[in-house]
Amino acid sequence: SDIYGLERRNSQGIDLTDLDALVPLKAEIESAAERNWKTAPIIGGHPTGGEGEALRNPADLRQTVGRVVNATAKDVDTAIARAVRAFPDWAATPAQERAACLERAADLLEAERGAVMALCIREAGKTLMDALAELREAVDFCRYYAARCREDFGKPMLMPGPTGERNQLALHGRGVFACISPWNFPLAIFMGQVTAALAAGNCVIAKPAEQTPLIAGLAVAILHRAGVPGDVLHLLPGDGAAVGAPLVADPRIAGVAFTGSTETARAINRVLAAKDGPIVPLIAETGGQNALIVDSSALPEQVVRDTVVSGFQSAGQRCSALRVLFVQQDIAPKLTEMLAGAMAELKVGDPALLSTDVGPVIDKDAKEMLERHAARMAREGQLIHETKLSADCQLGYFFAPRAYKIDSLARLEREVFGPILHVVAFAGDRLDEVIEAINKTGYGLTLGIHSRIDSKAEYIVNRLRVGNAYVNRNMIGAVVGVQPFGGEGLSGTGPKAGGPRYLHRFATERTLSVDT
Ligand code: SER
Repeated sequence: SDIYGLERRNSQGIDLTDLDALVPLKAEIESAAERNWKTAPIIGGHPTGGEGEALRNPADLRQTVGRVVNATAKDVDTAIARAVRAFPDWAATPAQERAACLERAADLLEAERGAVMALCIREAGKTLMDALAELREAVDFCRYYAARCREDFGKPMLMPGPTGERNQLALHGRGVFACISPWNFPLAIFMGQVTAALAAGNCVIAKPAEQTPLIAGLAVAILHRAGVPGDVLHLLPGDGAAVGAPLVADPRIAGVAFTGSTETARAINRVLAAKDGPIVPLIAETGGQNALIVDSSALPEQVVRDTVVSGFQSAGQRCSALRVLFVQQDIAPKLTEMLAGAMAELKVGDPALLSTDVGPVIDKDAKEMLERHAARMAREGQLIHETKLSADCQLGYFFAPRAYKIDSLARLEREVFGPILHVVAFAGDRLDEVIEAINKTGYGLTLGIHSRIDSKAEYIVNRLRVGNAYVNRNMIGAVVGVQPFGGEGLSGTGPKAGGPRYLHRFATERTLSVDT
């Protein structure tokens, strides 16, 4: 049987350089962008009423993308109560049927690619390429978790019966899961959390990031149309204080999946620990202080290409993104010069254009945080390059990609989420100090290594505590079912998203022994 889900195929890409493919796709995106988008709490399959607030395009603040009605405390209570009532039937629904809902949702996402991509571009500021990658990852999560659901939940595991009894072990849903997702993958991570929880037999209350509720509303409508009952999945837009906090604190919540900052994950963990009643699991994916270590045997052209992709694609707004480039001293001057040259070629601007490499950052707070950090780096480090912004960047929350040379990783107390890269030169005989400094951050998400000495790459991999290590390639864009993704330490709890054990943490195990 297909134990690892390897017979399943991931979604296929679209060659955006082929005009016969690009022109119809752009037409679908443009027509979807014109719709009157609106999201409200979706409770029992129906959106609630209200005028709502306008959501602006981060690339052009003159444009309204749509409107959002945020959930009230009463909505939180009603949604949980209905989900609790729906749970026994959903948990008893055959795994094959739950999986089929996810597979139909994947087909619907693909059929509605224009709307999906239009919202990724306009609500979240994704470039065309990133919007396509986001669609494909969401589709892959649906199909991969469906495959895992059929395999692991479809039939119990038979255990030995040494005394003549029939023993079996089965996985069951836990109850009502709260899924709290981030704006940087407003579709893929949202769908990943929700479909995993549903596949495992749970009901779900989904709380999307307040910046990206429209795409979440579209995703929930698609899941309902795909056959997920209205009371099994509810959507509660709103911010962390008004919606996330009461949701997590509610005694009826049986599990929490959270992707976002380490601070918020800790706060959720504290709330869960302080509750009376059952012990509630938290599945958290948080930040990183991701490093790329380059020794003098590396191929400089390849290093520069992978550095630019890892540091600046998606405007550096990926938890996997490269933050600190460690370069062996002997090649540092040449490499930084080449890096500056490559950064000068980056096109920052309208994310809807195929020629754009870097779109806007998500909002005003993000931009101001980056400006503060850049001001500090200008004092404490040395600017290697700042990419030029085009005139239309005035219209939105754009931030010019920058690279700074700094003397030590210790200067960075925390992750800086955006297109700022830090470069540290190290002496060839000080590699152990580099490894120690990275481990000392406490984060452990992604790591890159560029070296043509296999034993050195192996030495580094064996000593660094990280979830995803990449050798001689870029360090973003983990592929569902191929490169299970997630970190350790301050970067998250595991199990890995898009990996064979992810669904298990959303479930509880039950043993049945029958005397025959
Ligand atoms: N899964 C994404 C990546 O690998 C990060 O969130 O880039």
